[in-house]
Amino acid sequence: MFDTDSEAEISIVLGKYPAERKASAVMPLLYIAQRQMGRQTGSAWVPLPAMDEIARRLEMAAIRVYEVASFYTMYNTRPVGRYHLQVCTTTPCWLRGSDDVVSACQKATGISQFGQTSEDGLFTLTEVECLGACANAPILQVDDDSTKIWMAPAPKN
Ligand code: FES
Repeated sequence: MFDTDSEAEISIVLGKYPAERKASAVMPLLYIAQRQMGRQTGSAWVPLPAMDEIARRLEMAAIRVYEVASFYTMYNTRPVGRYHLQVCTTTPCWLRGSDDVVSACQKATGISQFGQTSEDGLFTLTEVECLGACANAPILQVDDDSTKIWMAPAPKN
């Protein structure tokens, strides 16, 4: 199920934890699975069989893996577009114009509501909580790569 690249990453991650604490690797393994899906299908998400495999490898109940994957917005539990547009609408970003960012994304993609994917399958628009970059608000994160964070130009006074 995991490809060679993922297996190499998993080995490195598991090497960081004592064997009796390997359940602590659940978050990085979910990320590894999500990135592999992105490489293989163009849609970075974590399907149920991948969560089951992670549970098996970490010797933990599958429900505990499902709980982690469904709690954090950084894990996609259903297919997303090639580009996952995540707009922060928490107060600092909202005060700095996140509504305009949402409107621009909707206009560019044809998406009318959060959670939808564009008809061409290229974009999914998601509303997220603080991305930890408030000083540069408003923030739009593309995919799970912090190098693709987009910051609006400073407003003119
Ligand atoms: S409030 Fe948007 S990044 Fe923190």
